[in-house]
Amino acid sequence: MKLLLKGAKVIDYNKEFKGDIYIEDGKILDFGPDLNYDCEIINCNGLVVMPSFIDLHTHFRDPGFTYKEDLYTGSKAALKGGYTFVNLMANTNPICSSMEVVNYVLEKSKELDLIDIHQTVSITKDFDGKTLEHIDSLGKEVKFLSDDGKGVQESVVMYRALKKAKEKNLTIIAHEEDEGIVGVDSRLSENIMTFRDIELVRGTRAKLHLAHVSTKEAIEGIVKGKEEGLPITCEVTPHHISLYDNPYKVNPPIRKKEDVSALIEAIKAGYVDAIGTDHAPHSVEDKKNGACGISGLETAFSISYTTLVRGGHISLNKLSEIMSANPGEIADINKGRIEVGYDGDLVLLDLNKEFKIDSENFVSKGKNTPFNGEKYWGEIIATIKSGKVKYNGGIEVDYR
Ligand code: DOR
Ligand code: ZN
Repeated sequence: MKLLLKGAKVIDYNKEFKGDIYIEDGKILDFGPDLNYDCEIINCNGLVVMPSFIDLHTHFRDPGFTYKEDLYTGSKAALKGGYTFVNLMANTNPICSSMEVVNYVLEKSKELDLIDIHQTVSITKDFDGKTLEHIDSLGKEVKFLSDDGKGVQESVVMYRALKKAKEKNLTIIAHEEDEGIVGVDSRLSENIMTFRDIELVRGTRAKLHLAHVSTKEAIEGIVKGKEEGLPITCEVTPHHISLYDNPYKVNPPIRKKEDVSALIEAIKAGYVDAIGTDHAPHSVEDKKNGACGISGLETAFSISYTTLVRGGHISLNKLSEIMSANPGEIADINKGRIEVGYDGDLVLLDLNKEFKIDSENFVSKGKNTPFNGEKYWGEIIATIKSGKVKYNGGIEVDYR
């Protein structure tokens, strides 16, 4: 299987050139200004080509809530959004606390052959907030633990979880929410838990990834911890960097203008490792009943690109770093860079296209988005995984 992309504007975290990329047996084998290989060709005609995107924070609801999303519709949504790798959270039914659920997800996704998936296992068994023994029986496929959707309330439980994670070289993804105080003050709830967990990392030196950081104080705490050299990484969502004073139901909630500014400043200063979508599809009925979340995979790039790059805050290289290179490194996968030997996973983009978001056109089952009807720049034209076109929104492949 060989594929040559010709005439692209190639961008990754540290490169920018006009030229070609050659993929053989699923891997990037060559790139440069004028390549010649006798194989299938895609004429990119000046389109931007970047490494495909990598999402560390995704909910596909399979098993158990497949009326909201399943592995097939979720994977198709990922591809349409330019993603070829997602990290799935554990709040399914049953909750993913065992290799049985991990294996179900991985086998089904392998059969689908659409994108690559990592399945996160819960920190506490069945999200009970205390039991950690299941962590001992996890296979090497598992890299992340998270009770995302809920915070781990007891400090000593989080302490023990971090100790265990360190022993097994796992990374904990923290959903920072103190349930006691959230009803009184939701930003304090996020801040307190964030500060606590940074302290726990100071005490344990275990790897912690802070999910969907949304407040000024939380990101300031993370900046301090990073400056001290603690092994912490963090992500922000497209919605928390582009919306403020908006009542749309999502957890953590949409914050204030000053929070958005603080998050963007932290991105510019290099303290934010990744854009995480927190793709959280729900049915119309569930949203009516108060479910929190945004169906985010299909709009993440355009919102981030329009807000951060068109908004004049960062370069396209920097966006590639936080949507591909860094999350690829955190997930410890061979993706996210245009580099010989890396996976041939690429996205073709028309950055000069402005379009209106229409959630009825989402391939995700979740049509829940506060961005419906809004105009954004940057359309995904095609997504390539391992040298194969997996999403085609209008390119011609020249089979010769
Ligand atoms: O808005 C959210 N939705 N935040 C979460 O933490 C969980 C997620 C979900 O699973 O629906
Ligand atoms: Zn989540």
